[in-house]
This record gives sequence, C-alpha cells and structure tokens, in this order.
Amino acid sequence: MSDLHDLGDLSDLDEGEMRTFPDLGEFGIVVCRVEGELRAVIDNCSHADRRLSEGRLRGPMLICPLHGAQFDVRDGSHQGPPAWEGIACYRVDECDGTTTVDLTPPERDSTNSDVGGRFRTR
Ligand code: FES
Repeated sequence: MSDLHDLGDLSDLDEGEMRTFPDLGEFGIVVCRVEGELRAVIDNCSHADRRLSEGRLRGPMLICPLHGAQFDVRDGSHQGPPAWEGIACYRVDECDGTTTVDLTPPERDSTNSDVGGRFRTR
C-alpha cells in the first residue's frame, strides 16, 4: 500500500534548489532538484535531529547546518561525519505539472546498513 502525497507543480524548482514540506511525514520532507531530477528526503538529520532544510545543498550533497554531516539526496546515504547512518529518501514522480511523493517506508536492506536509501533509519 502506498502513501502518496501531491506536492503540486514543482517545475519552478531549479537545479540546486530545495523546498521543504514540513507537514508531510513525522519530520517533514525536503525536495531537491539534482541532476535534473527531483529527490526527496526526510527533513531531519540522523545525527541530532536538526532540520536539514536549514542546511545547504552542494551538488547531490545536503549538508546539515548544525555539525556539517553530509547526505546524498539520491539515496539517503551519509557521506560525512558526524552522522553514522543515512536518512530516509522517498520516490518522487513528476509528470505534466504534477508532482507526487511516496512516503511508504520500504523494506530495510539488512545487507548494507550503512546507507540511507528508501527506508526509515530509526
Ligand atoms: S545534527 Fe546534523 S550533523 Fe549533527
């Protein structure tokens, strides 16, 4: 069963920009345009619960404003300390001026617990 949410028209979100949707999910989500594609991740750092939407996006890396942990928005994996685990990322579909995000928590991949990916990390 999917947990689809309409995000409206995000065609105005340019490369390298991000937008927050604070009312979606438990912590809100951040939607970013990277390499021409929309990516969505949870708006909460896995290190100490800081809103990632207050950080910076550098290429595909979302940098936490508090201690500088980096997360790849393409898969949620953490790429730099002090975080030790990734963040949840979600599937986004953009078609004909409408955008949807699926907040369904996918199965966790127990073979590689080091990456974020499409699952909740806590
Ligand atoms: S709260 Fe994000 S790196 Fe510490």
